[in-house]
Amino acid sequence: MNVTTGPKVDRERLWNMLSEMGDIGKNGAGRTRLALSAEDLEARRLLVRWMKELGLDVRMDACANIWGVRNGRDATERPVVMGSHIDTVRDAGMFDGVMGVLSGLAAIRAMNEANVETRRPVAVVSFTDEEGGHFLSGGLAGSRLMAGAVDLETLRSKRNAQGKSWVDALNESGFLGKDRLEPHAYLEYHIEQGPVLVDEGIQIGVVQGVVGLSWLRVAFRGEANHAGAFPMNRRHDAGLAAARAIVELNRLAFELGEGTVITPGQLAQHPNFPNIVPGEAVLTVDIRQFDPDLLERGIARLKDVVREAGECEGVATEIETLSRTQHAAFPKEMVSLVEGKAKDLGYSTRRMPSGAGHDAQIVSTLCPAAMIFVPSKDGRSHCPEEYTSPEDVGNGADVLLHCALDLARAPKALRENGI
Ligand code: GLV
Ligand code: MN
Ligand code: MN
Repeated sequence: MNVTTGPKVDRERLWNMLSEMGDIGKNGAGRTRLALSAEDLEARRLLVRWMKELGLDVRMDACANIWGVRNGRDATERPVVMGSHIDTVRDAGMFDGVMGVLSGLAAIRAMNEANVETRRPVAVVSFTDEEGGHFLSGGLAGSRLMAGAVDLETLRSKRNAQGKSWVDALNESGFLGKDRLEPHAYLEYHIEQGPVLVDEGIQIGVVQGVVGLSWLRVAFRGEANHAGAFPMNRRHDAGLAAARAIVELNRLAFELGEGTVITPGQLAQHPNFPNIVPGEAVLTVDIRQFDPDLLERGIARLKDVVREAGECEGVATEIETLSRTQHAAFPKEMVSLVEGKAKDLGYSTRRMPSGAGHDAQIVSTLCPAAMIFVPSKDGRSHCPEEYTSPEDVGNGADVLLHCALDLARAPKALRENGI
């Protein structure tokens, strides 16, 4: 199909939908829709309503992933799937994840309005608990469950701050189903969340693959004591050990280099009281690297660094791996498809890896996958300042639409390449 004369997404409508969903969970400048929270469930209800308005067949699977399917001519074919997630981190922007899901709906609306028939079905999916912070599931839970990369037993042990388990929240969500959908191919459209595209003035990022990552929880167990009477040289200060670890982990990321990032993101001290030496400190650490060998070495060094920090303060250290996600490299045919469509639409492109984790890295173990990035203002994300202009949102959505159309029409050239 000629991309310049073919269907286009309705950019204004897409922006309005982003704003409307962005109001769910709004608290000050940001919004919080933690996975399987009341706010996430409200956003899911809105998504289902919009899917039904588009005439999609709404399906739910055993991980409460929500699918909206548009039929193709050939009912025996598997769907071409566009997707991402609508849960958020705490105090989020309104683009991370949700832009990919709503752009999928915008692409389907454009197909409907142009009366396009495709050979394969086209679907939009919203995956459960992509972010992972609510229950410390490690993220990508809905796609990992679907791909068999994690089991329900493992998730049963994940609890939120109120003690509710991940599995109970799933069972009570009202979004559990029995459908099983197997994508023919998967496209995830997302904001970059870093500064590469904005710094270089590029319109579309053609994603070659996604970093591998691990989340760990480190508990430092020292001794609570009186802040005034207990001498400095006899303390076993768990807070101090955590602080030492944080500084040393930052040094380690620079030492490992090659784009390694390490983030001690969550710190809880106990009893967390002004005149008590902290007896316990619990720290989460997120480490990411594209090269699997370097990531393995980084994780081993990370464990050494936190143990040494504990020893320095005479504090015991316990390390638990919360999650480990493999890196993904997307098939070259899928990367070329995204690049070709972006260029045909007249956009500047750049190939790049993704430093953020995405469901696409999991789904790529099931079918050919690809990702499309658009610029994030100042490279900011996971904060209320996260922003991508309506023009950039629309550009990427049109690339998504035309990639999906090609895959769903299944031209001979793609089929000959096994896609
Ligand atoms: C998800 O946003 C992640 O990369 O942590
Ligand atoms: Mn995301
Ligand atoms: Mn995110």
